Amino acid sequence: MQNFTFSTTKTIVCEAGAARLLAESCRAAGAGRVLLVTDAGILNAGLLDGVLPGFDRSDLRLGIFDRVEADPSSATVEAAVHAARALGAEMIVGFGGGSAMDVAKVVAVLAHPDCRQSLDELYGVGSICGPRLPLLQVPTTAGTGSEVTPIAIITTGKTTKAGIVSPHLQPDTALLDPQLTLGLPPKVTAATGIDAMVHAIEAYTSAHKKNPVSDMLAREALRLLAGNIANATHRGDDLNARSQMLLGALYAGQAFANAPVAAVHALAYPLGGYFHIPHGLSNSLVLPHVLRFNASAAAPLYAELAPLVMGGQCVTGSPQQKTGQLIDWLESLIVELGLPSRLRDCGVTEDRLPQLAEDAMQQQRLLVNNPRAVTEADALAIYRAAF
Ligand SMILES: NC(=O)c1ccc[n+]([C@@H]2O[C@H](COP(=O)([O-])OP(=O)(O)OC[C@H]3O[C@@H](n4cnc5c(N)ncnc54)[C@H](O)[C@@H]3O)[C@@H](O)[C@H]2O)c1
Ligand SMILES: [Fe+2]
Repeated sequence: MQNFTFSTTKTIVCEAGAARLLAESCRAAGAGRVLLVTDAGILNAGLLDGVLPGFDRSDLRLGIFDRVEADPSSATVEAAVHAARALGAEMIVGFGGGSAMDVAKVVAVLAHPDCRQSLDELYGVGSICGPRLPLLQVPTTAGTGSEVTPIAIITTGKTTKAGIVSPHLQPDTALLDPQLTLGLPPKVTAATGIDAMVHAIEAYTSAHKKNPVSDMLAREALRLLAGNIANATHRGDDLNARSQMLLGALYAGQAFANAPVAAVHALAYPLGGYFHIPHGLSNSLVLPHVLRFNASAAAPLYAELAPLVMGGQCVTGSPQQKTGQLIDWLESLIVELGLPSRLRDCGVTEDRLPQLAEDAMQQQRLLVNNPRAVTEADALAIYRAAF
């Protein structure tokens, strides 16, 4: 049997309406002062309305940091750490999409009274010394799976998305409440759902750490996500579709937390950094083209995924032919979901492609996991195909 190690978030609570129990969960964790990290969109959507009365009824002191932006910057992390220290926070709650949850993770480390590290010292793999404050995550998108990953992605400088990867970032608790996602707008539902599908696909073909548990999770994630993304996007109030998407994103997060993502993400990051294209859409724009590039190395694995994704449709032929059917299906899904499919339709100009390719090469942490080696010339060719 293959040797492997698998880790995930210790406690996972999944229940429609569970967000109402957030204060009780914090009290059970022994915290007296809690900082909730979120963004203005979440507040304006009223997602905290059912949560706050629980805190009012308790003797907990709650601070809210609501200034997280999409692709959060290091300055935002510093501001949130400042808020946590001012409150004397004993516990951090991330409440939102990947952006809010990622900031919450880093705050839980830096706001611990015994932390002697600066934010700059945390970047990279395995740089955090620990300890950190207790950390509970409430996802409101079915996308990043950040509630079960030991990863935070922060934008440094103006354009670079840098990863912090450490077991210390693995949250203690993930609280999944599908009711929170009922009002997620169609475009965000579609893009974040594609992000989750990419997590599953890239975990399944990850070059080094793919293992039986990550494979099992990736396959089930894809089945759930592919089967429900259209309903969740076009009929946002379908609680069942929303629940399946949240579960699918969780499984995909568990898979790629242990079998890391690769070239789709490496090429997506510069699109977010330079053009502020949302993370899920960045992935969606390069996905078919990276899969086509990878096919010569990964076709047997893609062929195993094709029938899971395409449901009842008949998938036949050689691994290469099945891979072709998978890619065609994904391309039509992207159109059906109403997402743009070309870089030129998202504000990217052709003269910027070489810069994007040069920057993608900086994401070696991810590129080493790709089933096929990617040179800068390859990255440029993929961007040209996506243009
Ligand atoms: N840590 C990880 O493992 C990991 C994995 C993938 C991506 N990421 C990072 O996560 C970030 C992207 O996260 P995301 O795609 O979840 O988007 P996001 O957190 O940036 O949120 C996108 C928008 O959706 C809004 N929103 C979120 N939930 C809502 C809801 N239920 N109803 C209405 N509006 C809602 C937010 O207000 C925001 O404006 C990027 O920075 C990306 O790099 C992290
Ligand atoms: Fe992602």
